[in-house]
Amino acid sequence: MNTDDTRELLREIDAYVEDLFSPSDEVLEAALRDSRRAGLPEINVSPNEGRLLQLLVEMAGARRVLEIGTLGGYSAIHFARALPDEGAMISLEIDEHHAGVARNNIERAGLSEKVEIRVGDANELLADLIEDDEDPFDVIFIDADKESYPGYLDASLRLVRPGSVILGDNTIRGGTVLDPQDATARATREFNERIARDPRLSGIVLPLIRERIDGLTIARVL
Ligand code: SAH
Ligand code: DHB
Ligand code: MG
Repeated sequence: MNTDDTRELLREIDAYVEDLFSPSDEVLEAALRDSRRAGLPEINVSPNEGRLLQLLVEMAGARRVLEIGTLGGYSAIHFARALPDEGAMISLEIDEHHAGVARNNIERAGLSEKVEIRVGDANELLADLIEDDEDPFDVIFIDADKESYPGYLDASLRLVRPGSVILGDNTIRGGTVLDPQDATARATREFNERIARDPRLSGIVLPLIRERIDGLTIARVL
């Protein structure tokens, strides 16, 4: 099969799974539409990946979720919907404009009570969380600037308990991690290697297909 055929097949497989398991709704459509209108980059998780994140939160029995990289709140809506009534999440976002769009999308979803967005550089906000002696998070989703992934992993390890789950998005990036040619790919590769080797973690990189291949790193804290 040539590359175009393969890409088309990947698209069809993703659509097949999406039809079965990841139906959209007005709230999610509106969040994507308003994010687009506000000029945000269209780099949210896919419907299927959002569904997977939801399942992971449910399987972990999570009550406290931390997200690094809010964008327009599309993934945050998935997380917040998966949380029990007494659950809550904090999402970190450096861009004031992104955070504003996300707050509106989350408000419309009726989830404002469950989602706190903190604006600033996640490197600093994570240091604040560590300093503040926050209760441990049950799930941490790393999805901001890729160069900081190794640092975000270090910080995450100080904000979890045994049994917590640490997730990293975009950890295959079209296969560029196989032979990194730039800082982004190098940092992503280092992130995956550290998760593989760290004796405190047990993990896997799950390749995810859409039009292109990317991946989600999933790790459990021992
Ligand atoms: N999780 C979102 C997508 C996040 S895209 C979803 O799937 O819906 C990555 C986001 O990280 C962008 O909004 C970007 O502004 C933010 N970001 C980039 N660098 C950051 C940093 N240093 N600290 C916090 N957020 C950052
Ligand atoms: C990019 C970032 C993401 O978080 C993502 O899911 C896809 C792409 C990017 O920076 O290109
Ligand atoms: Mg991402």
